[in-house]
Amino acid sequence: MIAVVTGASSGIGLEISRGLVAQGATVAIVGRSRERTGAARVALGGDTPVFLANFANLADVRALAGALRARFGRIDVLVNNAGLAVWRRTVTVDGFETTFQVNHLAPFLLTNLLLPNIVGRIVTVASNAHKRGRLDFDNLQRERGYVVYDAYAQSKLANVLFTRELARRIAGSGTTATCCHPGVVATRIWEVNRVLRLLSPMLGRLMLTPAQGADTPLWLASSPEAEGHSGGYYARRAVMEPSAAARDPEAATRLWEKSASMVRI
Ligand SMILES: NC(=O)c1ccc[n+]([C@@H]2O[C@H](COP(=O)([O-])OP(=O)(O)OC[C@H]3O[C@@H](n4cnc5c(N)ncnc54)[C@H](OP(=O)(O)O)[C@@H]3O)[C@@H](O)[C@H]2O)c1
Repeated sequence: MIAVVTGASSGIGLEISRGLVAQGATVAIVGRSRERTGAARVALGGDTPVFLANFANLADVRALAGALRARFGRIDVLVNNAGLAVWRRTVTVDGFETTFQVNHLAPFLLTNLLLPNIVGRIVTVASNAHKRGRLDFDNLQRERGYVVYDAYAQSKLANVLFTRELARRIAGSGTTATCCHPGVVATRIWEVNRVLRLLSPMLGRLMLTPAQGADTPLWLASSPEAEGHSGGYYARRAVMEPSAAARDPEAATRLWEKSASMVRI
């Protein structure tokens, strides 16, 4: 099995990668930092292929897709896991709000560019935070009234809408698309400011471990029981109903078309 895991340098992505390696898969780990991704490679046994790309730069995402396609003719599993939350609004080199680009536009572009090579499963790590998300098509870049949690929730809502629209578009192809909530997990994603960084060892004790958080995405990516499942949103290995906003098919199509024009595909 050839698997590609984004955001594999840390947290849930590292544990998804560990689980896939334990099942005998060749796992291409994707990270933005040479040091952290190199350390993940060592932690995974040392012969794992490493690919570097900063999702805040769409040229990096295009180069990543090209490198993966050149290295692997066929990809069995793509796990779109990389994600972040940003305390104060920032804009990427591509001109998009960073959370929206890293959490949604980059995996949207990567998935589309890899689609001809994927025969298997596409799993996107979304979040229950999507339930608080609102897609305001006139303010997708959060130019007005930026709040970290709202921008994050919007991006996670986009993950669920993306998965549902993708599943519809690839139905019957043999490839499936699912997404999930991993639980509330003790990872660096919570460390969005100095106070939360200081509190994180204490708060982390109340949360799931990254290995526990990896359970559902790993199950979706590789278990025989999840074979053939497509379009669903999962938590604790069970399909869950996402929010009403996430079930809106018109919003899903509109977001897809808008995203395609933003990333120029
Ligand atoms: N933790 C939770 O409670 C929770 C709950 C629901 C959903 N999730 C989702 O789970 C996923 C994994 O997050 P995590 O909790 O495991 O956090 P994490 O430990 O911070 O891992 C995030 C991963 O994404 C990578 N990443 C961040 N910004 C990137 C960029 N600009 N370009 C490329 N890669 C980038 C990080 O790379 P670096 O190592 O270089 O930072 C890291 O590998 C995210 O999609 C998150 O939204 C998490």
